[in-house]
Amino acid sequence: MREEFLEELRGLVSEATDQEGALRLVCQLIMETIPNCDWVGFYFLDPDNEEELVLGPYVGEPTEHERIPLGSGICGMAAESGETLMVDDVQAEPGYIACSPDVKSEIVIPISKDGQVLGELDIDSHTLAAFGDEERELLEEACEIIAEIL
Ligand code: SME
Repeated sequence: MREEFLEELRGLVSEATDQEGALRLVCQLIMETIPNCDWVGFYFLDPDNEEELVLGPYVGEPTEHERIPLGSGICGMAAESGETLMVDDVQAEPGYIACSPDVKSEIVIPISKDGQVLGELDIDSHTLAAFGDEERELLEEACEIIAEIL
């Protein structure tokens, strides 16, 4: 599954003509490939206000959190630190920003280019501890590929 997924992802990235459309297809591919994903989306640093993240393409239920200040929530913390954050139980995480009461666990992977964090991939699951080291490694590799179209 790993190699096929990365191959398909490289294909989407290399054929991308419209960034937004390509990123939405990437979200769909992740949703179909990685078990227990219930919301997959991107947040990007606002070029006009680098203290805030802005919601990008996503698949899943609409969220009211279209802007997240750097340092706030799991998304804001991951973007600020530049490190992947995996939360097995969001209810136990101080600062967690709830999008849906059904969400139980979350992983956020920053996307960097030339040493600068540009945004992140955010995945929510309705299953506790849905993501582990295997998913983390795969998604970090995926985010390096995705960075090519940013
Ligand atoms: N849960 C995130 C907010 C974004 S939604 O999951 C789409 C957070 O705590 O930053």
